[in-house]
Amino acid sequence: MSLDSEIARRRTFAIISHPDAGKTTLTEKLLWFGGAIQVAGEVRARKASRHATSDWMELEKQRGISVTSSVMQFPYRDCIINLLDTPGHADFSEDTYRTLTAVDSAVMVIDSVKGVEERTIKLLDVCRLRDTPILTFINKLDREGQSPIDLLDEIESVLNIQCAPMTWPISMGKRFRGVYDLYRDTIHFFDPQAEKGTSEIIQGLDNPRLDEVIADQAEELRMDIELVRGASHAFDKDAYLSGRQTPVYFGSGINNFGVQSVLDAIVDLSPPPLARPTTTRDVAPNEPKFTAFAFKIQANMDPRHRDRIAFLRVCSGHFERGMKIKQMGAAKPFAVNNAITFMAQDRSIMEDAYAGDIIGIPNHGTIRLGETFTEGEELRFTGIPSFAPELFQRAVLKNPLKLKQLQKGLQQLAEEGATQLFRPLGSNDLILGAVGALQFDVVAHRLEFEYGVDAVFEPCAVATARWIKGSPDQLRAIADKYPASVALDGAEDYVYLASSRVNLQLTQERYPELKFQETREVH
Ligand code: G4P
Repeated sequence: MSLDSEIARRRTFAIISHPDAGKTTLTEKLLWFGGAIQVAGEVRARKASRHATSDWMELEKQRGISVTSSVMQFPYRDCIINLLDTPGHADFSEDTYRTLTAVDSAVMVIDSVKGVEERTIKLLDVCRLRDTPILTFINKLDREGQSPIDLLDEIESVLNIQCAPMTWPISMGKRFRGVYDLYRDTIHFFDPQAEKGTSEIIQGLDNPRLDEVIADQAEELRMDIELVRGASHAFDKDAYLSGRQTPVYFGSGINNFGVQSVLDAIVDLSPPPLARPTTTRDVAPNEPKFTAFAFKIQANMDPRHRDRIAFLRVCSGHFERGMKIKQMGAAKPFAVNNAITFMAQDRSIMEDAYAGDIIGIPNHGTIRLGETFTEGEELRFTGIPSFAPELFQRAVLKNPLKLKQLQKGLQQLAEEGATQLFRPLGSNDLILGAVGALQFDVVAHRLEFEYGVDAVFEPCAVATARWIKGSPDQLRAIADKYPASVALDGAEDYVYLASSRVNLQLTQERYPELKFQETREVH
């Protein structure tokens, strides 16, 4: 198969949702429909005892299997599907943001009872940064939820994205009987007892079989559809691909219903790998030369070996086992013999990969988040953000003799993206920044188990942080004036740690020539 056709058949996406809307269930059912797992239940098993354990224990457990479940690749129809997992725990994490930079599209799951929830809003904002195309799956139609019209209205007004219904539900809750496919003119009857949730598929709204199967609801459906056709937006592929419109499917993940439509939509509608910007030019996916960037680092999978896996999104060309690639900033290219591929739940040595695929490279901390890899060309992919943390704590050692280990542990965990680390220029403080509070628990736990350091975290007088940009002289001036507030982050960039919003504003006014940024792009 040619490079062009290999790339054209890649679909790389992530599922986004508010916790409990049904992301895990949908992930599992997609894998099952795609033939990647034999028994439904394998993915959900990891969430099984989540009610009984604390959040961070669950996280630990997830980490244990997350190398295999972070990326799930499987063939479906003529395509190779790469499904990227976003962390499932309750705290909104930076990992999720970064994973979304590695996909070409997303599937948004909405709970029909709860409608648009807070996390969904945030995730959609992240997708919007890159105009990522989004398919919507409205889940749990087997429950008495909000009316479909209200749900679409809510998505349109709250998420500010046009909806194009692709299927339409036949009632809901106890009266839920299936969906009508507005474009294929087919009716899919729902039966929770049937294999894969569908008892029968018939063609045409006027089909007399419709009246046989759902006598009391057939007329209502015909009227609904007439209304929907008149009142809703028609599917517009360009609008979808540019992130302005989302095609909407209805179903019940737990009952397998509607899952096939989503999987088919990924093949039929979702984009293959797209061109990606670098600091100098756009890289097209079908350029023959290999390029990639690291969007996720997972360290210490096995605490006895300091192994890390860097997840690289291939942006162009073809990767072959043993090929030499160059990490930007490194002196020499290196041969990659042990890259890992992710076929469903197994981990195996990667023989080759194409633009759109994800490869895992074991390393000892030499690969950092956001770094670019090429066959030699000097390039730097852009758009992998670090976010200004909203929570800050100071790390304090219980045993002061372990300072070296603490510094090393925090530095490594910061490189991995588990936390952000700030060292004020005028003190020896180690200040941790996080986007979600759970990150602190995870870091404390990992410091103890992976680095043998018993540290506690104390509140500190930092309310917000901004990366500061300016000439070396300007940076030195502010650093000399406020040595307790100007810090270096893990990548030795200058950061201003403000004690309050007012303090930040005053400082910005005092230094108009400096830029105070809320995100830092990792290069
Ligand atoms: P998440 O990953 O987005 O957090 O959601 P997850 O798939 O874990 O689903 C959250 C809950 O919603 C689960 O129930 C799951 O069984 C249920 N669920 C998923 N899809 C449907 C659906 O189509 N209909 C209904 N009625 N429920 C659905 P749970 O009680 O938290 O877990 P469990 O006891 O089922 O394991």
